Amino acid sequence: MKFFIDTANLDDIREAHDLGILDGVTTNPSLMAKEGIAGHDNVMKHYKAICDLVDGDVSAEVISTDFDGMVREGELLAQLDEKIVVKIPMIKDGIKACAYFSAQGIKTNMTLVFSPGQALLAAKAGATYVSPFVGRLDDISSDGLELISKIRHIYDNYGYETQILAASVRHAMHIINCAEIGADVMTGPFSAMLSLLKHPLTDSGLAQFLADHAKANGGK
Ligand code: E4P
Repeated sequence: MKFFIDTANLDDIREAHDLGILDGVTTNPSLMAKEGIAGHDNVMKHYKAICDLVDGDVSAEVISTDFDGMVREGELLAQLDEKIVVKIPMIKDGIKACAYFSAQGIKTNMTLVFSPGQALLAAKAGATYVSPFVGRLDDISSDGLELISKIRHIYDNYGYETQILAASVRHAMHIINCAEIGADVMTGPFSAMLSLLKHPLTDSGLAQFLADHAKANGGK
């Protein structure tokens, strides 16, 4: 399973990349705003800076909600760097824009997906990635992971090549369950990736090894 980091923070992206586990980046307008990135030129510069930091795909979201606007924005984004994936909201014009970009060979990520039917439409439109939001479904007492399972089942039935990008992933169990189900990619904050590291037996085992080594070598 590929690991994408869900942030526009350059330090977090650099740190995850340096750890050697990063396969790509997803952003959204809220994450860009959180970093204080505003204005067309700054936004474009920031996406380019992210692309320069990583080796994999970088999702950059359009703001337009009509087909012509999405095409205009998406084409500009795609020209920035070959790593750019045009991220498009799951609305009617978004599906049309996705089909258009697919025909042009421009990579796409259909976002704000909350149902199997929406995921089926994304695959039909030739999306590179589909982003079902696991955490936001859990937030409203719906089962986010069940959605990932259903989409996996539907895509496998027909051999759709659209990659399931489990989004809105919040913690270690989300990541592990997504891997068990067979999501192609997960995206979440760096803290969620690091939470996979934690095990008390690792910590106590390491402490014991170091203590035994020190004792055998005349140390304390
Ligand atoms: C998806 O691509 C979104 O950027 C993201 O995963 C949303 O996560 P959140 O629900 O934690 O905001």
